[in-house]
Amino acid sequence: MILEKNSSDVESNSDLEKLNPEAKAIVTHFSSNQDLRKKNPYRKPYESLGLKSNEVPKPKKPSTFKFIDLFAGIGGFRTALQNLDGRCMFTSEWDLNAKKSYYNNYGEYPFGDITKPEVKSYIPEGFDALCAGFPCQPFSKGGYRNGFEDTRGTLFFDICEIVQKHQPKYLLLENVANMVTHDKGNTYKVILKSLDELGYYFPDEPLLLSPDAFGVPILRPRIFIPCVRKDVANGNIDKIKQFKNEIAPRFISRMQAVDDILNPDLPADLPEYEERVLGMWDAFYKGIDLKVIGFPIWMEFFKYEGALDEFPLWKAKFIQKNIDLYNRNKEFIDSWLFEYDNLEWCIKTHRKMEWQAGKDISSVFEGLIQFRPSGVRVKRPNRFSTLVAMNHQQIIGKYRRRITIDESKKLQSFPDDFKLSSTKGIALKQLGNSVNVKVVETIFDVILKNFA
Ligand SMILES: C[S@@+](CC[C@H](N)C(=O)[O-])C[C@H]1O[C@@H](n2cnc3c(N)ncnc32)[C@H](O)[C@@H]1O
Repeated sequence: MILEKNSSDVESNSDLEKLNPEAKAIVTHFSSNQDLRKKNPYRKPYESLGLKSNEVPKPKKPSTFKFIDLFAGIGGFRTALQNLDGRCMFTSEWDLNAKKSYYNNYGEYPFGDITKPEVKSYIPEGFDALCAGFPCQPFSKGGYRNGFEDTRGTLFFDICEIVQKHQPKYLLLENVANMVTHDKGNTYKVILKSLDELGYYFPDEPLLLSPDAFGVPILRPRIFIPCVRKDVANGNIDKIKQFKNEIAPRFISRMQAVDDILNPDLPADLPEYEERVLGMWDAFYKGIDLKVIGFPIWMEFFKYEGALDEFPLWKAKFIQKNIDLYNRNKEFIDSWLFEYDNLEWCIKTHRKMEWQAGKDISSVFEGLIQFRPSGVRVKRPNRFSTLVAMNHQQIIGKYRRRITIDESKKLQSFPDDFKLSSTKGIALKQLGNSVNVKVVETIFDVILKNFA
């Protein structure tokens, strides 16, 4: 059953909404490739739906290569490769919110679950690059003996199957930074062994890149595995094996200022409780005799008199430092405790503070702040930490508000007019899952310059 409701015409979004997800993907992939006329790879499945399309195809920029976007999310890879004049021929993503955002930005509904043979059957012939930021799963131990056949049952296996069938010239895989150590290194080893077996070269050393290396003020290291098919790389093997040397000249030492990202006109909106916690730690920092605090402040241990040897050594050291700090600053800290009602109103984790700003700032309100399970963390205001779910987002001290979706979008290097879910929590998750566009664009540009 292709049509969920009676519909014989696709004229507008509302008509599209009547279709089931697979039909939506077929119709939109067909529409956006109409300029290919007889060569439109979606013509057959589209015609078998028995629909008439009145959609006018968007004029396409001339493209210099074709790619497919797997585990597409909101299309960080797609934006990056389109910026390099690539043309996306197929997309897969099963999350409904991501599909919607993807459609709103690129005019195509992604196909669904990539593990399904029907979904894979829509992948057209003749694309040059495959992109995938796939979820990390453990493989059976010793999977590197038989190569990718041993990865069966994982999403990486599905990637391998597609690679084996289509043999694109380039692959660009992405994953979280700790993939290299995941499952005691087995996961990464199996992936590389499989890629080698499939006929690709990749960097000898794990390629860990963060947007701040390219001037974007956010620390978000990710593992990238750029691969080039062996026959394409031949003669230039070192340029892929020593990829770090190729990309290093693109590193930018001068970072974009955080103030270029932030909107100075937005109102402060911290809840009264958070204002009070921050005001309390600000007063504390200004009152004590240390400017560079090299250990976590744990208020509960200021007056600790018990034995320290019942704690692990690292913790005993920190407790001792808190006791010493208290003893040196007894008069001030006692009056501070009195002023702030002994912190009894304050939830337990907020009675701890981690100062990670050296002496670069002289007030909590000059820093970037996060309410974390480990305490209230204050950092230098020159670089954001990785994007996180709601409420853990960083607070811009001087503006007394959390970073917004639009600002987070800039940190992921998406264009300002990029459309995300209108639900804040979902939009944040979408950005948090995504790749940074600038990092991907730079990596792929290096591949093209060396191997196209
Ligand atoms: C880490 S995110 C990748 C985000 C993407 N690189 C971006 O720029 O937004 C992984 C994505 O894979 C999708 N996914 C997981 N399993 C899938 C499957 N079997 N078929 C299709 N998509 C899948 C998830 O919904 C998620 O959006």
